[in-house]
Amino acid sequence: MAKDLLVNYQGKPSYTIYIREDFNDLASCFRRDIDHSYDSICLVTDSNVAPLYLKELLDIFKGLCDNVSSISFSAGEQSKNLDTVQLVYKHLINKKCTRNSLLVALGGGVVGDLTGFTAATYLRGIDFMQIPTTLLSQVDSSIGGKTGVDLDRYKNMVGAFYMPKMVYMNLATLNSLDDYNFACGMGEVVKYGLISDEPFFEWLKVNHNKLNSKSPEALEYSVYESCKNKKYFVEEDPKEKGIRSYLNFGHTLGHAIEKLSDFSLGHGQCVALGMVAASHLSFDLGKIDGKELEDIINLLGLYNLPTRLEIEMNPEDILAASKSDKKMQGSKIKFIILDEIGKADSYMDFSDQDLLKAIKGLLN
Ligand SMILES: NC(=O)c1ccc[n+]([C@@H]2O[C@H](COP(=O)([O-])OP(=O)(O)OC[C@H]3O[C@@H](n4cnc5c(N)ncnc54)[C@H](O)[C@@H]3O)[C@@H](O)[C@H]2O)c1
Repeated sequence: MAKDLLVNYQGKPSYTIYIREDFNDLASCFRRDIDHSYDSICLVTDSNVAPLYLKELLDIFKGLCDNVSSISFSAGEQSKNLDTVQLVYKHLINKKCTRNSLLVALGGGVVGDLTGFTAATYLRGIDFMQIPTTLLSQVDSSIGGKTGVDLDRYKNMVGAFYMPKMVYMNLATLNSLDDYNFACGMGEVVKYGLISDEPFFEWLKVNHNKLNSKSPEALEYSVYESCKNKKYFVEEDPKEKGIRSYLNFGHTLGHAIEKLSDFSLGHGQCVALGMVAASHLSFDLGKIDGKELEDIINLLGLYNLPTRLEIEMNPEDILAASKSDKKMQGSKIKFIILDEIGKADSYMDFSDQDLLKAIKGLLN
């Protein structure tokens, strides 16, 4: 089993996503896509991923370049900041990395976003590639070239659009991922069904047992379908001027909840809650009916995602935090809603009362 997807950027072929079940093909895909040799290659990873996969990857890259190093930082969102970027810059300087060096992001979305940003800015930009190892990074963050870090409590406040040279995902790495982080990624997978792919939504309803038990066929199908959906949005709208914002379905309220929980709730969990609230808003507008709303909430539950906020939070605080999100246009929040299952739209005219009603729906 193997699947490839070529992603275009601004109308031209940019990079290939390789979906595989091991790392055996990595060297040949690399040689196929990269037509020159690098002075040096640096693998960037985190403290959880390093003991699992770094040695195998170092061995592979040593076969591709004479000068290979690695740097690992403490796992977690709290490391996704400019201090860690500086640590990586210093490592690159110590290793005499040049404009002709390559950074390899080996890990989840935190490693991918931070490594991409470091690559975009070190010596005004060097090449990088993604080896995503979480479900969320495989179906979402490794595709589309959004890179960046958090600043204080502001998520992804500093960043750049910067495309990888290639993305290679080994689905077997998901076997070491815990249930919580697997569910986080499933939030984004379900999102694709909701915003752009009704048949996939139906497939997800039928195949939850296979997917939750990480059946290789089910994983490959759902990762491929998710990447295909993400590819569509990032190709149509690479810099998020229009329909790429549909990918933010559930994210405006989700980010607010994530911030107010001091990041104790995972990104995917918060996005799931945001999707429930956004589905309630779609129901209130008469876009989806009660049965569809119930289906959405049930499906999130089947993938072990929360559909109610279990920790105490003030609805007014959630609303205020949503308004500080980057998705504001003037004083209005741009909300992504469902026109129907499998079709998203944006909506700017919710009143604070409408939004508070949907937020309170998460608490009852
Ligand atoms: N760039 C984008 O377009 C985009 C899109 C969505 C999310 N994001 C960002 O992605 C980040 C979240 O990504 P994430 O959920 O992958 O988080 P993460 O990178 O923190 O990974 C989650 C946890 O899983 C561990 N881990 C990674 N791979 C593993 C494996 N194979 N086995 C065992 N443990 C493993 C990590 O060490 C970490 O503890 C957030 O910072 C979010 O802002 C970016």
